Amino acid sequence: MHGAGEKIAMLTCYDATFARLLDGVGVDCLLVGDSLGMVLQGQPSTVPVTLQQMVYHTECVARGNRTAWVVGDLPFGSYQESKEQALRSATALMQAGAQMVKLEGGGWTAPTVGFLVERGIPVCAHLGLTPQTVHALGGYRIQGRDDEAAAVLKQHARELVDAGAAMLVLELIPSALARDITAASPIPVIGIGAGVDCSGQVLVLHDMLNLTAGKLPRFVRNFMQGSASAGDAVRRYVAAVKDKSFPDPELHTY
Ligand code: KIV
Repeated sequence: MHGAGEKIAMLTCYDATFARLLDGVGVDCLLVGDSLGMVLQGQPSTVPVTLQQMVYHTECVARGNRTAWVVGDLPFGSYQESKEQALRSATALMQAGAQMVKLEGGGWTAPTVGFLVERGIPVCAHLGLTPQTVHALGGYRIQGRDDEAAAVLKQHARELVDAGAAMLVLELIPSALARDITAASPIPVIGIGAGVDCSGQVLVLHDMLNLTAGKLPRFVRNFMQGSASAGDAVRRYVAAVKDKSFPDPELHTY
């Protein structure tokens, strides 16, 4: 799809029922995100989520899915200690049914990505706002705003590509920066709050279905509005990603 220039539609997914629904209406990629900490568990962040919990939800998603590509998030504390720890954790997710694992951060993560890739584990990297390090970042705020921070993100993206990452998620960065990183990357770049020029888009399922309590980030669109059912909302999301009408440069972009 990336090679053909077709936009990739990704959503988070945490259980078999939604996996069946999302896969059935054409979502290309299911992310078993550690956002389940907030969405399912009511936690204040993704930090408390454990590997065991991620394994359980990955198994659930894999059972409901038929054709979508399944990415499993390596949770906080499951890959930072050593490359060997990352391999053990990634193995657990792959054996639970993930086809790719995602880990957050740049710089120090590149050797870990290389280590996993060499051992046959496809890796998705995640740069920009990295929720597992929200306390170090000082909150959920836009990243890569000034020239220096933008240059660091570009360098980290290059290093991760060189290390063998097969996909990159960019979260909450200016659209111009995401466009530059996407243009320079041979791998698909999936944006969330990163503008329309990425190779695809991802949203938290419960956000786009308007099930999340409180104020949503600006980059989220409520696809339930005007939809007769959850399936209809997801179908409209897929269509909007494919025809580039989501995200809207005026409404959902920085
Ligand atoms: O856990 C998650 O839902 C994610 C997305 C925000 C990309 O990592």
